[in-house]
Amino acid sequence: MKKIILCFALIMVGTIMAQEVPLVTNVFARNNINLNGKWNYVVDPLENGYYDYRLMPFQTNGFFENKKFNTAELQEYDLDTSPLMDIPSDWNSKDNRLFFYEGTVWFKKDFVYKKSASTKGILYFGAVNYDAKVYVNGKLVGNHVGGYTPFNFDVTNVLVDGNNFVVVKVDNKRHKDNVPTVNMDWWNYGGITREVVLSQVPITYIEDYLVQLDKTKEGVISGWVKLNSVVAKQTITLSIPELKIKKQVVTDSNGMAYFELKANPVLWTPESPKLYDISISKFDDSITDAIGFRTIKTVGKEIFLNGKKVFLRGISIHEEAPFRQGRAWSKEDAITLLTWAKELGCNYVRLAHYPHNETMVREAEKMGLMVWSEVPVYWTISWTNTDTYNNAERQLHDMIYRDKNRCAVVIWSIANETPHGDDRDIFLSKLAKYARTQDSTRLISMAMEVTKSNNNINTLKDNMSDFVDVISFNSYLGWYRGTNESCKLMQWVIPYNKPVIISEFGGEALQGLHGDKTKRWTEEYQEELYIQNTQMFDRIDGLAGISPWILVDFKSPRRQLPRIQDFFNRKGLISSSGIKKKAFYVMKDWYKKKEMEYK
Ligand code: GCU
Repeated sequence: MKKIILCFALIMVGTIMAQEVPLVTNVFARNNINLNGKWNYVVDPLENGYYDYRLMPFQTNGFFENKKFNTAELQEYDLDTSPLMDIPSDWNSKDNRLFFYEGTVWFKKDFVYKKSASTKGILYFGAVNYDAKVYVNGKLVGNHVGGYTPFNFDVTNVLVDGNNFVVVKVDNKRHKDNVPTVNMDWWNYGGITREVVLSQVPITYIEDYLVQLDKTKEGVISGWVKLNSVVAKQTITLSIPELKIKKQVVTDSNGMAYFELKANPVLWTPESPKLYDISISKFDDSITDAIGFRTIKTVGKEIFLNGKKVFLRGISIHEEAPFRQGRAWSKEDAITLLTWAKELGCNYVRLAHYPHNETMVREAEKMGLMVWSEVPVYWTISWTNTDTYNNAERQLHDMIYRDKNRCAVVIWSIANETPHGDDRDIFLSKLAKYARTQDSTRLISMAMEVTKSNNNINTLKDNMSDFVDVISFNSYLGWYRGTNESCKLMQWVIPYNKPVIISEFGGEALQGLHGDKTKRWTEEYQEELYIQNTQMFDRIDGLAGISPWILVDFKSPRRQLPRIQDFFNRKGLISSSGIKKKAFYVMKDWYKKKEMEYK
């Protein structure tokens, strides 16, 4: 018994010695040890590395310790001699035994660290899907839930000088009360799906900052800098050389420093995505970033970017790697997908249905694409479960926290295709209000849905219309309801004095399958669907944007038609092997026309 208490105490000390801390903003600009690359992995469907045979969690001798036993002792695992996987990645596309696998996989990475009295070690994960237990040198440093947002732990006190190792227990099992819940139309890719770094920062470091055009004061750049601890009288220097700005501010007793700078920067636009190099520094810490300045607002049924009416010529995109499938995460993946969006004539992308990796948002910003960013509050969420709400709110917080300096992000979306109901309205209205407390400068929306018409009248009615700035909805005329022909007769009633975005429409086609335009799954059917739908959209009053579903075919366990879907959702305008379908050119022409209208 004494041994168990001692071990438990040691684990507790280990836990207290390390803890989750607020996100280190713009982490990739810091002084990091990069932990991407080969990690050992052990597939553990029975969670044998975490529970003993009585389902009690191990205090020691779990896989997290990767203990070396002598040859007289029984050892039935060894992470060091287990297979290797390239991280970041999802295990489904990396090991064909794990194509459908939903459960626990353990990952281990060795690294060398030089301890210093003046440095903290912050272990940062871009994302892990879905439940991550993280151990450093065999000690639990924390647990994170949520598959698409970053998190980090201060592991300074559990790091040793020299050889260290990190172990992560990743569990991607779906649960009813998770966010997303158990059903969704995308692949449940599990793993350490985004980049991992050990950031080496000063004991008192620049944790977070906001540098944006002031929403209310003309010609003012305002914001703040936050230290990781409540240290006053620290001098912070903010400089934007191209604007001849070099401003010193001093932190208050909360470790915060505020500033307002008179400036008239060249405003960021999709046509001219101007970014300014900024640096923020204190005597022992310095960070650079590239920041754009713009305004976004709605007036009645119109959206204004920098005071000019704008039509969002968009496309929806899943975070699916082009050509190879699996989770996209790299700069190359982002540039491939976003270049296709630009070829389509887009000035806007809907990053569905969860926050994409930071690189994707930054590359969109550089390429002149406005962004709709969304939390995976998708379909039949557990509306009355408090833990579910708190999970959704945490994911929304972390999405806004990470990208609040990205001028390309113009819309935060709190949900997709959720069923009407009082519980859902309570949940989502609370989430919408919370979003505004985190960011009062961007537009709030959600993808509603129109699933039926009455005498060819399609009416959008949703209680959540009071809580959003932009009315968005998905409609699948010609695919899930009606026919391509029926588009010609359809009228639309959207009784809200707010801009309207069609957040999804589309239909499936197997690239290379040709036939009559009345024959489903042919490129000609999809092409006709786009022709008829876009002609119908011209009749919608207050239409301010569209993001067709979807740029590229993507994997989904719901799509099983043999030799046509084969676990792909084929609504892409581009096939899974990167070939453009005929409908791509219909949308491209329609956007060309739209662009001329808004010149
Ligand atoms: C829905 C949903 C998407 C889904 C699409 C489809 O609108 O939002 O996630 O993939 O329809 O059925 O293809």
